[in-house]
Amino acid sequence: MDNRPIGVFDSGLGGLTVVKELEVLLPGEDIVYFGDTGRVPYGTRSFETIERYARQDMSFLLEMDVKLIIAACGTVSSVAPHVGNDIDLPFIGVVEPAAKAAAKATRNGRVGVIGTTATIQSGAFDRAIHQFTPEASVLSQDCPMFVHLVENGWCTAEDPIALLAAQRYLSGLKEQGVDTLILGCTHFPILRQVIAQVMGPHVTLINTGAEAARRAASLLKESGQCAPSDHKKGRCRFFVSDAVGGFNRTASMFLGRDIREQVSRVDIINHPILPSCSSSKGE
Ligand code: DGL
Repeated sequence: MDNRPIGVFDSGLGGLTVVKELEVLLPGEDIVYFGDTGRVPYGTRSFETIERYARQDMSFLLEMDVKLIIAACGTVSSVAPHVGNDIDLPFIGVVEPAAKAAAKATRNGRVGVIGTTATIQSGAFDRAIHQFTPEASVLSQDCPMFVHLVENGWCTAEDPIALLAAQRYLSGLKEQGVDTLILGCTHFPILRQVIAQVMGPHVTLINTGAEAARRAASLLKESGQCAPSDHKKGRCRFFVSDAVGGFNRTASMFLGRDIREQVSRVDIINHPILPSCSSSKGE
């Protein structure tokens, strides 16, 4: 039994897709969420910058005495999964759990991956899918604009701009007949309805955030590290690196409750950078 919180980080709102699923699977767990809203997007930056940001985000979570860290960010999980080697805690990224789910879901072996530009350039999902189904054809598309739509709260199925962007990004994948689509950026499940509308009912959408949460839940259960069963309902605290207002609004809408009282601001830019060491633990 371990009643320390679970640490979750992302560049902004996307990691809330992990939080939402964790709250269903492990309602007794406390969660510390960090969204780097002052530096979002990560997905258009260099691999070095993304890794540096991830190391600062993780050192903040370590200070919060978490028992597990989830990189609830497809970009960090793709570009810098090795940062997990530098902590003495379990570390979960979103790539491998989502790739495994996609390999299980596909019927025709044509798997689409959408993500940020850095994620697609890294080829991480491609490699992970081929580990599970070597014969799969993987078709990838970066969709950087989706991140901004979500951060601005333009994500409902009725939003004409979101729909237009989705048609433009996804028509190629649809034409190529993918039957499974990995939403390889944790922001994208927030646009799920719009994406589903464009891809049609026969394409299975894989929610990377939810898959990572499931992996975390089984890891904590297997290692006996869940919060004690008599623990009260888990408390979630949210930290962001810029103004809290916009985050409050969109996050409250997505989580379906008012989180205003639980959000604080952190100065991440001056935060120490988690040092690198050479041991090897994998994603
Ligand atoms: N939610 C993130 C991801 O999963 C990051 C999007 C971004 O900051 O560009 O990739």
